[in-house]
Amino acid sequence: MAKIIDGKAVSAAVKEQVKDEIARERLDIGLAVVIVGDDPASRVYVNNKKKACEFCGIKSYEYALPEDTTEAELLELIDTLNGDAKVNGILVQLPLPKQLDEKTIIEHISPMKDVDAFHESNVGRIMIGNYAFLPCTPAGCMELIRSTGVEVSGKECVVIGRSNIVGKPMAMLLLHENGTVTVCHSKTKNLAEVCSRADILIAAVGRANFVTADMVKEGAVVIDVGINRLENGKLCGDVKFDEVSEKAGYITPVPGGVGPMTIAMLMKNTVMAKRIQSGI
Ligand code: GUN
Repeated sequence: MAKIIDGKAVSAAVKEQVKDEIARERLDIGLAVVIVGDDPASRVYVNNKKKACEFCGIKSYEYALPEDTTEAELLELIDTLNGDAKVNGILVQLPLPKQLDEKTIIEHISPMKDVDAFHESNVGRIMIGNYAFLPCTPAGCMELIRSTGVEVSGKECVVIGRSNIVGKPMAMLLLHENGTVTVCHSKTKNLAEVCSRADILIAAVGRANFVTADMVKEGAVVIDVGINRLENGKLCGDVKFDEVSEKAGYITPVPGGVGPMTIAMLMKNTVMAKRIQSGI
């Protein structure tokens, strides 16, 4: 039976550290959170990010824009925030309404304030291992792996999913820690067989209960990035938790696994943004 990796506890410890650091050094830090439209899931995430800011002692500035906001309006807001000294980090909650091109918007954020690490220059820096900001979700997954005490170095690591936000940067972070990394996707042949070689398996597919016990090696560390809402309204991950937890060594639950870590890492990045901007 797998040990459950408690994302809430690991996240609480990271946020405590951030809070102490901010208080000790009396850092004055601001995070601008931009939400466009009224997607209910985005609203929940944004509220949780604001709550985390409050806990850590970071000022949060919310910009809630209407669904029909034009690209020019959003770019103008980003210009203002880029130039605002009290704003150290800028986060534009994704997904955006369809009239707004996500790439154009992200590239407009100053890389020094890009606490999501989505800007091309930050993505490039992750690739070469010279980064200031780590992308929040993959960095959170690395913390969870670290919390198990299982070393990444030399291990077979399989990432299912190749998104720019999770799959690709996740593969890079595992590679930086000397994992042997395979990235699987919709065209991968023999997916179950590839996954079942993994000592560390990261599921970032976006499909409920996609990873079944036959795809998992006995004793593996299984990190479930998925947040899927079922028809009955319940949240579930990409991993079929009941059967996989019988076989894995460690497993993250959904909710209470990766989700809280993403927010904790955002807090860390916001402190880092402040340090970069003020040279401390
Ligand atoms: N939407 C889903 N996850 C994220 C995230 O980590 N950052 C932003 N900005 N939007 C998201």
